[in-house]
Amino acid sequence: MSKITVFHDLNLRITLKEVNLICKNTLLVYIGNIKLAEFPLLLAPMEDVSDPPFRALCKKHGADLMYTEFISSEGLIRDATKSIQKLDIFEYERPIGIQIFGSDIESMKKATAVCETANPDIIDINYGCPVKKVACKGSGAGILQDIPKMVSMTKEIVKSTSLPVTVKTRLGWDENSKYIVEVAERLQDVGIKAISIHGRTRSQMYKGEADWTLIGDVKNNPRMHIPVFGNGDISSPEKALHFKNRYGVDGLMIGRASIGNPWFFNQVKHYLEKEINLPIPSLKDKVDTVIEHLKFSIKWKGERLGILEMRRHYANYFRGIHNFKQTRFKLVTLETQIELMEVLNVLPEVRAASAQIS
Ligand SMILES: Cc1cc2nc3c(=O)[nH]c(=O)nc-3n(C[C@H](O)[C@H](O)[C@H](O)COP(=O)(O)O)c2cc1C
Repeated sequence: MSKITVFHDLNLRITLKEVNLICKNTLLVYIGNIKLAEFPLLLAPMEDVSDPPFRALCKKHGADLMYTEFISSEGLIRDATKSIQKLDIFEYERPIGIQIFGSDIESMKKATAVCETANPDIIDINYGCPVKKVACKGSGAGILQDIPKMVSMTKEIVKSTSLPVTVKTRLGWDENSKYIVEVAERLQDVGIKAISIHGRTRSQMYKGEADWTLIGDVKNNPRMHIPVFGNGDISSPEKALHFKNRYGVDGLMIGRASIGNPWFFNQVKHYLEKEINLPIPSLKDKVDTVIEHLKFSIKWKGERLGILEMRRHYANYFRGIHNFKQTRFKLVTLETQIELMEVLNVLPEVRAASAQIS
């Protein structure tokens, strides 16, 4: 009996399957017309980390929405190779957002147009970068010192594109200017389709603990209707569950916990659903993933650069493994794919043998 009749007056007949679908769709999170999961997990934009090779792994292991690392608007409009290469996105990554930063409204609009040529799903504006060379020029978190400009820049960018625009920002410039509740509302009013909030001020940089209270206040503001994503210190599946339940956000944005651990997304999802931890990846899993990462890096950047850029990842993947110094040294000094593969391929057996001896 799958056929049921509802709304007799309207003479509408829908199947149970359709009812389920309607119910499920109303629970899903949307950014504009982009349909996400019920409780999406986002890969945070991270400079020199969230490039296509790393994103491929995060996608494979459960990230629902990903962002590129931030890209300079000035670099994009000057056609700087480094900035343009960061526009590389791939079909399987969708939905994907390109993040830009800058302090000049016209340049940001032009950069948005350049980004559109790469055909992303979302344009994200970085209003959160705390580093001096960005923030002190009025870009990134620097704009938190000039909220009217932040609002008008956002409005102009929204007007200039048909893509959904999202914002990533912090609580405020410093302890005395944590205006995020009002700021989020004003940004929503000029048309952004979602906001991700890192629970620190610019002055805090990455120090101290992220404060999620104000993130919760943004979410619980009855005037807010766009998705609010919480970010900051989601370092374990248990913490993810705590932040979800306590602050009621629409999804979580995960940064550092995914570095060297792209499995984190599925680990969190599993825990949110069952409150049981997935087994941690074995050394063999890690090696296989490192090889995948390395191969993608080389494919994307060529052997020399791909190998160089991969060097920053080994310590993160193999953190906590005893007596790893020698192997790590090889991984960060060898210069060809063949040599690296020789070291990586035998790693699980070598480690198993040395564990037996000791
Ligand atoms: C290496 C690194 C690079 C980052 N680059 C960016 C960036 O390009 N754009 C941005 O909005 N945030 C950037 N961030 C901040 C993260 O997106 C995130 O807000 C921050 O790390 C807090 O989240 P977490 O505690 O989950 O790491 C970066 C953080 C790190 C650690």
